[in-house]
Amino acid sequence: MLNTDQQQTVGVVGAGTMGRGIVQLFAAAGHRVHCVDAVPGAARDALDAVGAMFDTLVAKGRMDADAARLARGAMSAHDDLAGLADCTLVIEAIVEDLSVKRTVFGDLERIVPREAILATNTSSLMVSEIAAGCERPERVAGLHFFNPVPLMRVVEVIAGVRTAPDVVARLRTLVASTGHRAIAAADQPGFVVNHAGRGLYTEGLRILEEQVCTHVEIDRVLRLSAGFRMGPFELLDLTGLDVSGRVMEAIYEQFQQEPRFRPSSLVPPRIAAGLHGRKSGEGWYRYQDCEREDAGLPAPAFPDGVSVWIDPEAPDAERLCALAGSHAVGQAEADSVLIVQPWGVDATTAALERGLDAARTVAVDPLPRLDRHRTAMMTAATLPRYRDAAHAMLASGDAGVTMIADSPGFICQRVLAVVVNIAANIAQRGIATVDDLEDAVRLGLGYPDGPLGWGDAIGPARVLTILEGLQRVTGDPRYRPAPWLARRARLGLSLLSPEPARHD
Ligand SMILES: NC(=O)c1ccc[n+]([C@@H]2O[C@H](COP(=O)([O-])OP(=O)(O)OC[C@H]3O[C@@H](n4cnc5c(N)ncnc54)[C@H](O)[C@@H]3O)[C@@H](O)[C@H]2O)c1
Repeated sequence: MLNTDQQQTVGVVGAGTMGRGIVQLFAAAGHRVHCVDAVPGAARDALDAVGAMFDTLVAKGRMDADAARLARGAMSAHDDLAGLADCTLVIEAIVEDLSVKRTVFGDLERIVPREAILATNTSSLMVSEIAAGCERPERVAGLHFFNPVPLMRVVEVIAGVRTAPDVVARLRTLVASTGHRAIAAADQPGFVVNHAGRGLYTEGLRILEEQVCTHVEIDRVLRLSAGFRMGPFELLDLTGLDVSGRVMEAIYEQFQQEPRFRPSSLVPPRIAAGLHGRKSGEGWYRYQDCEREDAGLPAPAFPDGVSVWIDPEAPDAERLCALAGSHAVGQAEADSVLIVQPWGVDATTAALERGLDAARTVAVDPLPRLDRHRTAMMTAATLPRYRDAAHAMLASGDAGVTMIADSPGFICQRVLAVVVNIAANIAQRGIATVDDLEDAVRLGLGYPDGPLGWGDAIGPARVLTILEGLQRVTGDPRYRPAPWLARRARLGLSLLSPEPARHD
């Protein structure tokens, strides 16, 4: 329970999806909350919905009945901003339109006390630009919640260029009073969470563009091998391709067409065709029958006469030999499939670099644990006989197998290296501290680990090798390693190690 010093009067402008969640969060935490919406009666409807949510939580034993009663009594609805005159903080969650937001902030300045903080929940506008229309921009900040607000336990606190440091400190304390984790973020495109989340989407789309495999296979490999809760195409269907497509374009433009964020030309035709995802019944997947095609192809029989040679340098040579069983040979024979495990390059490059016959070479991803899911990649010349031998061998045991076309870095190496690299660049630019960045990604994106910690688990030097391989094979500057990552990899330091202080 909050004491009277901690209890604040919070105004929420906009009683839509986000406003309702924000009202619920602060009321449940013990603050007084005034809710305002421009549509008459909308604020009242929102409070009724929040009250019903409290009833549900009480019935499920997730909220104390007394706390629900107090929270309900602490909420009030208004059809006019004048109702916010005693607020110490006002959070704006209205339509994403700069001029409408600036008008509301101008009106609020004339209504709220001089020391009250004005915060915006904008996802894509610059906090500094909203603040620039105010007489006292130093008290304006971003407070970026995620949907659904009560369940997504992270809030970005964004300092505009003129925001006073004590405003950020007060907002962090206030967020902490709700039980959510406050992340301090610079006023940069996508702040932290939406910036760090670019890698999964853009790289997934790039892999699909290159016809490496289907979107279903990309999602499956990233779920089973890398541990993402959802693959990029499942996520795009959840958020809506129309919404995500706009965000992809906006972040790319706001970062002055940075190649790392280059959107995919696969997206606009699908938006135009109305394939928006779950909300339109069809996106990358069909939702009408609540069913999604997700079964892998059955493994072929092991071809007669073929033997299996495994590159002795392969990181999983022993395990692969065990899988090959009686087919394994120590010296490659004329009819051997040649198994290699490259980092960051395609199977063709791996075969040529090792002086192997590309028609018989198959590459197996060394990154994912072999007992969960196995990804194998052919060169541009691999014959079906050797493809089938590799597939049949990898399918022995319980793990599934995904066979992909030639591509540098398979699926997991490529996506994870890009995710780590983008995070390293966020750290390099000081958009968030390393601790805040790690928690923001874990809580805001639901990744199994923070991106820099994930990079440490793979090995910084290995991530660097993968990125250098990707850049070498594709010639695409999107894969250039962030200096933060390259330096730490070369020095044998953790990616989580901050820059040393420049003076005492
Ligand atoms: N929906 C999300 O997942 C999400 C996540 C993070 C941030 N945001 C941001 O939060 C803000 C609100 O998004 P939302 O999804 O809740 O929108 P919404 O459309 O669900 O709700 C907006 C509400 O604001 C009201 N409104 C519009 N203009 C107003 C005005 N001048 N004064 C008072 N009320 C006004 C509308 O009547 C509506 O009830 C946007 O800036 C959006 O970018 C949204």
